[in-house]
Amino acid sequence: MTESPVVERRDFASDHGAPDTGAKPEINPESSAPKSLRARVIGCGSALPERRVTNAELVRTIDSTDQWIVQRSGIRERRVAAEGETTSDLATAAARAALRRAEITAADLDLIIVGTTTPDQTLPATAVRVQAALGMTGGAAFDLQAACSGFIYALSVADNMIRSGQVRTALVIGAETLSRILDWTDRTTCVLFGDGAGAVVLRAEHSEGGAKVRGILSTHLHSDGRYGDIICTNGGPSSTRSVGYVHMEGREVFLHAVVNLAAAADEALKANGLSPVDIDWLVPHQANQRIIETLAQKLHLPAEKVVMTVAHHANTSAASIPLALDEAVSDGRIGKDDLVLVGAMGAGFTWASALIRW
Ligand SMILES: CC(C)(COP(=O)(O)OP(=O)(O)OC[C@H]1O[C@@H](n2cnc3c(N)ncnc32)[C@H](O)[C@@H]1OP(=O)(O)O)[C@@H](O)C(=O)NCCC(=O)NCCS
Repeated sequence: MTESPVVERRDFASDHGAPDTGAKPEINPESSAPKSLRARVIGCGSALPERRVTNAELVRTIDSTDQWIVQRSGIRERRVAAEGETTSDLATAAARAALRRAEITAADLDLIIVGTTTPDQTLPATAVRVQAALGMTGGAAFDLQAACSGFIYALSVADNMIRSGQVRTALVIGAETLSRILDWTDRTTCVLFGDGAGAVVLRAEHSEGGAKVRGILSTHLHSDGRYGDIICTNGGPSSTRSVGYVHMEGREVFLHAVVNLAAAADEALKANGLSPVDIDWLVPHQANQRIIETLAQKLHLPAEKVVMTVAHHANTSAASIPLALDEAVSDGRIGKDDLVLVGAMGAGFTWASALIRW
């Protein structure tokens, strides 16, 4: 038996008082039904592989020191997936935790998007592996590849699908097993990355407007493919029939990251008529402590308002922001009505920001 398309199955516009014309909801921002819909985060979760690899363990096999790694990046340890433990395994565990927090089941979901650069397989999408593992048989599931910006890109797609009335409840996941595409003899990359997954559940809610609208306020996506070779793998299905290993010109990335992250943060604040003093929490992509500190300085944000997990997670690419969000929600830092600014920069270059009222 085939499922009918999401829009017809959910009949979401009519659930929310709009006349049921049988047509797809209007995407035109001026139309009345979708205009007041907001995507609110109703739960988040995360998952990490059990195995911790400390700097001390790593430098036994490469020409580096704990001191160099900590000074240049802030990283002290990372998690590494066990043999046979896949991106979809981590993504599914994070998804289950997020569903529990949201107090819903997989049957309530209309959409799963997995931001990842390290899918289980070239096809099918990791998102459908997660869908099957969760026992969700309807709706849609797909992957999105925007490297370290993948979570915010996925959040943006889900947000727009919710605002347009196409879906009601979405699971957005960032999940990676970067350890599988690292050359563990290359000290310029292998010390920097780790494995993990984070997930958020978004649900459409009617917004009454006002100063403290809850949910995703706006998302801002950018890319510039002229910088495609600055972080890349030296292989891929279509070019080498393999996956390849990560190569990165770290210093060049560093300079662009600081500029692009600050610009994307400004853009998000301006779009909402807000300023840095309004931010309760900055939750940036966790690539390097120095990049995060420089960004916080540019925004005049004190360290207490910055969520930093890079020391114990390292750079988990698309997973880093949802992992950090879950940590700060779980320990009580991020709470209801807090204004959270997320920002990321990665291969492509891609960069992005979003403002979320929790
Ligand atoms: C990668 C990074 C930590 C390197 O720090 P840096 O201060 O820029 O260091 P450099 O790349 O200039 O390298 C300095 C020296 O350290 C060496 N080095 C590199 N990795 C090393 C390691 N693990 N241990 C010891 N020395 C190392 C380099 O070979 C270089 O030596 P050289 O001067 O003899 O050529 C930093 O550039 C960075 O974090 N960049 C951004 C990365 C990022 O955000 N990536 C993710 C985006 S998704």
